[in-house]
Amino acid sequence: MRKKIVAGNWKMNLDYSEAKALLHDLIKLKGKFGKDVEVVICPSSPYLAVFAELIKDQNWLHLGAQNAYFEDSGAFTGEISPIQLKSLGIKYCLVGHSERRDNFNEDYALLAKKVKALIAHDITPVFCCGEQLQVRDSNVYREFVMKQIEDSLFGLPAPEIAKCVIAYEPIWAIGTGKTATAEQAQEIHGLIRARLTSTFGEKIANEVPILYGGSCKGDNAKELFSQKDIDGGLIGGASLKADEFCAISNSFV
Ligand code: 13P
Repeated sequence: MRKKIVAGNWKMNLDYSEAKALLHDLIKLKGKFGKDVEVVICPSSPYLAVFAELIKDQNWLHLGAQNAYFEDSGAFTGEISPIQLKSLGIKYCLVGHSERRDNFNEDYALLAKKVKALIAHDITPVFCCGEQLQVRDSNVYREFVMKQIEDSLFGLPAPEIAKCVIAYEPIWAIGTGKTATAEQAQEIHGLIRARLTSTFGEKIANEVPILYGGSCKGDNAKELFSQKDIDGGLIGGASLKADEFCAISNSFV
């Protein structure tokens, strides 16, 4: 059975004391999060080392980074390597979030290298894809998302693709309060699963969790997560409130 995952992307929010307060609020809710759900938080990088210490006894809660570079070490000022993340026990890392594609010009080839490097160091890449509003409106969104996935992920051998998580995040739904309908999200998730099946076979395709992201909240998660190819959520704004994030983790039917 595929993993169910609820991952909080805290983005560039919260100062250190606010971030620690949110972590403590989450820990207080231990036992209230969804059963059999992998709960992941992705705080800003400077907090990862302390957070790793603070949650070392919390085996239900996992850490993810928001970004990593593909080289192991060297003269890459400002970057963080998968080896460094691994040395802190970080389990997940976001790759290709639309905010990084747009603001930092991350292209398909760069993202392919990042995914490969993370897998080489046993960190699960959470590969983000999704179309802008004008792409949705021009009706080529299906091809657009498939190309994002094929160009950055389909060069991997089958055993490595099985180690990835994919997150479909339509850009028009991110931070806008305008979530995709369950049908809109399932359409793309189903296409991704079908493309994984035709390229890597059914067994591998059925192992890859596909998360939805974009204004996912406590009051719409249940409908989204009830879809057959939606295996959880990558949550932005709503992950900054412990109760709401916990409610989302309890939205699997
Ligand atoms: P929101 O949940 O705030 O729309 O953000 C989604 C997102 O970008 C998660 O990576």
